[in-house]
Parts: sequence; structure tokens; C-alpha cells
Amino acid sequence: MENRDAKLIEKILSLKRERNAVILAHNYQLGEVQDIADFVGDSLELSQNAARTDADVIVFCGVHFMAETASILCPDKIVLLPDINAGCPMANMITAKELKERKRELPRATVVCYINSTAEVKAESDVSCTSANAVKVIENVDSEEVLFVPDQYLGHYVSTKIDKKMFFWPGYCPTHMKIVPKHIKELRQEYPLAKVVVHPECRAEVIALADQVLSTGGMCRYARREDVSQMIVGTEVGIIHRLRKENPGKIFVPASEHAVCPNMKLINLEKVLWSLEEISPEVKVPEEISLRAKAAVDRMLEVA
Ligand code: 13P
Ligand code: SF4
Repeated sequence: MENRDAKLIEKILSLKRERNAVILAHNYQLGEVQDIADFVGDSLELSQNAARTDADVIVFCGVHFMAETASILCPDKIVLLPDINAGCPMANMITAKELKERKRELPRATVVCYINSTAEVKAESDVSCTSANAVKVIENVDSEEVLFVPDQYLGHYVSTKIDKKMFFWPGYCPTHMKIVPKHIKELRQEYPLAKVVVHPECRAEVIALADQVLSTGGMCRYARREDVSQMIVGTEVGIIHRLRKENPGKIFVPASEHAVCPNMKLINLEKVLWSLEEISPEVKVPEEISLRAKAAVDRMLEVA
């Protein structure tokens, strides 16, 4: 470990105790951030963790909608996002106004929003879901028509697993779009023993080539299996750090080195320290939106 890191980590850990803070990090965060976090996980695991923490301050190392979800679930806690510019382009592909208009066109449809959406969009939705529980949540919806926003690819994947009429919003993740079938085909030739595991945000043609379609948390669990010794990983490259750390001796190959989410990389050790020092930048969802959005998130947490 570099001297810079050791000093920063010491300061972060001592300030964390002083503030009674917990550090939550998404699986796509930089390795240095994952390594100092109290908990590293996927969107569902992070929301569940935020909902039950007894810390006063949550330092959310992820993107804006994740910190918003923590604020929705814990309105009395201080939720910090160490870089306030860490947004999710997919979450910004639909606004509450656009969703309201679409709902008027589809009055019989239940609105399911991917957790990668703004608090305002959640407030206009009946139930939320993550990539880990989307199939289960949508199966449980008691209507035959579902409007799914904003990720068309996750929506399409779910529609192949269940028997409901689904309407999609044309949103997508620019990072997962970088993974194309050619990458998977070439790597399969190079690593014939490897399992191909991809995220449901990937293109349908990529999903069609996979052995498993899993959330990032699901990928981490799958990698621990005894029958998995090599894995081609079709998601954001940050997860490779955790996979290698938890599974020494196994081989993990990113499906594409270009599948990097620039927003997830905005947070580093310095910014975590500054945010604990300054108790800023804080993400706080206004009560009127938060209460309605919470109903959608709570319904999801009841199912999953
Ligand atoms: P999960 O970690 O929930 O699978 O989500 C991936 C993602 O893109 C988060 O932004
Ligand atoms: Fe959003 Fe894609 Fe980045 Fe996840 S990886 S935060 S969906 S842009």
C-alpha cells in the first residue's frame, strides 16, 4: 500500500468513528474505495443495508440515484455522496413529466421503475425493482400490463421470463452498450472453459450468448461456486477488483475493457475523506417526493 493511501485510510477510519458513519460502496467503485467500505454490494444489497443501519451518517460511494434511495429509506440520516456530479445517465433518460404523460396513454398498466431512476420518477411509480429482483417483482404485480422504465434491455430480459404484456421506455446504460456480441464470441474461443456471465442491462444479443444473467451481487455469489474457475464478465469493469480479491486463483476476464462507468469512478479516497470532514455534499430528497417514492421502494423490499 502506498504511503498516500495509508495516511488517507487512517484519517477516514478515525473520522468515520467520530461521526458514527458507515461507508457503503457499489461493486463498480474504484478498488481503493471498495477496500475501505463497511459494505460493498449491488443496488438491492446497498438499499437493504441503508434501510437497517444504525449509523448517523451514510457515506454513499456510488451514483446519485443510490444516495437518493438511501435518503428515501432513511430520511432522518445524513446521506453523503462524495462527488455530487456522480450521476447515472440512464436514470436521467426519463423525467417525472414524461412518465406522467406515458401513464395517461397506458391507464391499465402498473408502473415498475428500475431503481436506476430519479426520486421524482420513483414517486410516480407503483413499485421499484433492481436487476436482482426484477423478475420476481414484476411477476408479483397484480395486473397483466406493466410499464417498465427506464431500461429497455432489463425490461426486455424480464419480458422473456414472464407472461405479462410489457411496455418499455427507450432508456439504456451507455456503459453496458459497449459490450457487443463480438467480444463474447472472441473470448469464448480464447477461454473455452470459462462461464459467460452478463448483466441484464446488456444488449439482448449479448444476453443471448450468456450462460448466466445476473446482478452484480449475483455475479459475486456465482463466482464462489466450485464449478466456476474462469469467468467472462459482462458488466462494468470495477467488479473485477472484488471478484479477484474474493477468489484468488480463479480467472476473471472483462467482456470489454471499455465498459467503464465514468460516474462510478468519480469517487476516490480523497473525496471520501473530504466528505466526512465537511459533512457534504449531502443528498436529501424533499419530503413530498420522498414519501411517495418510499412507497414504491418499500413495496420492492417486501417482495425481495
Ligand atoms: P446492480 O449492481 O444492482 O446489478 O446494478 C448495476 C448498475 O448498473 C448500477 O448502476
Ligand atoms: Fe448508470 Fe450504467 Fe453507470 Fe450503472 S453503469 S450507474 S446504469 S451509467
